[in-house]
Amino acid sequence: MTDPITDLIHHPYVPPEGFAAPQPGVFKASTVIFRNVAAMRARDWKLKSGYTYGLHGTPTTFLLEERIAALEHGKHCILVPSGLAAIANVAMALLKTGDEVLIPDNAYGPNKALAEGELKHWGIAHQYYAAMDAADLRARLSARTRLVWLEAPGSVTMEFPPLAQLAAVCRERGIVTALDSTWSAGIAYNSFDLGGGRDNGADIVAHALTKYPSGGGDVLMGAIVTRDDALNLQLKLTHMRMGFGIGANDAEAVLRSLPSLPLRYHAQDRAGRELAQWLKQRPEVARVLHPALEASPGHEHWRATCGAGGAAAGLFSIMFHDRYGSKQVDAFCDALKLFKLGYSWGGPVSLVVPYDLATMRTAVSAAALARGPLVRFSIGLEGVEDLRRDLEQALAALA
Ligand SMILES: Cc1ncc(COP(=O)(O)O)c(C=O)c1O
Repeated sequence: MTDPITDLIHHPYVPPEGFAAPQPGVFKASTVIFRNVAAMRARDWKLKSGYTYGLHGTPTTFLLEERIAALEHGKHCILVPSGLAAIANVAMALLKTGDEVLIPDNAYGPNKALAEGELKHWGIAHQYYAAMDAADLRARLSARTRLVWLEAPGSVTMEFPPLAQLAAVCRERGIVTALDSTWSAGIAYNSFDLGGGRDNGADIVAHALTKYPSGGGDVLMGAIVTRDDALNLQLKLTHMRMGFGIGANDAEAVLRSLPSLPLRYHAQDRAGRELAQWLKQRPEVARVLHPALEASPGHEHWRATCGAGGAAAGLFSIMFHDRYGSKQVDAFCDALKLFKLGYSWGGPVSLVVPYDLATMRTAVSAAALARGPLVRFSIGLEGVEDLRRDLEQALAALA
């Protein structure tokens, strides 16, 4: 007779097969159990035909990888613990001492911080290029350029770059491009086939699933998507060596949110544009930076990439007239009630962050923007009229 404490672990009961429900099962494992030693030896962790160890995948993470690869029009997907980890995984896989990486001046700040920190310490050089200027990028490419980052639109200042031109400049020289597609979320543009072209986009897509795919403001996760088998393997080897695994509960949360991603994205887009248009009419506001608005930098590239009736994220920035100082703009942010102060975006709660552009830009792209305090909004899923009233009452705090 078996000791009951052993039965707590090895009870012979097996539930019937064939359970089906709208949401997939959640498989949690560090340890994966093998039938016998031969099965253990035969398993190749790189192949998705089986399981070896929690870090290399479970049914739950494989499922999410396939769905994100499909969302991004790619073939392979690697999941990592955050959007920033996706960026770091790409850099570590592709760059070695003596190489150089080019990053748009208006890129997500921590991508630049990684270049200025660890990459620099490892003898990897970097340059910031003017994201709106393919000629500037071309002029900066050299024999040691191994990776070029693209981001559309740029972080905070929201300039939409001529993506297809930038990608073409790199392709001509055989240089790998990686596109941060977080804003597009796989919906506004197809990162691999830009503006209706075919294979004219990025080689690698890095997507912070933390934002729209999670949609809850409660999960950190990133994805690296490719079409090329060799590139995927290169990224996957780094992923394995760095131990960048993700948890099954987080994968489950994203799997649960994915079906509503297009609905949320379009609703947040509609609300964002309505509020951006309203803010544009306000006397306090010098400029609204939203790629779908005509006067916004790179609007023509947004149209070419996303289509005339195309989509956009519910994310935009405004620049106040420079008669307002940062203290007044801080007071505006503090006066907001529904908009919460917080980094990140893409969740149900509308967010606001004041930025000081002067400390964020080094190259020419920011020079085209009017100077003045800037505030970025992420539009959530609240009633638009409530958000508008919240903005209106907070604008009174500027005076
Ligand atoms: C454009 C962009 N890429 C990547 C990231 C990083 O995502 P995570 O917060 O999951 O590290 C962010 C986060 O704000 C982002 O805005």
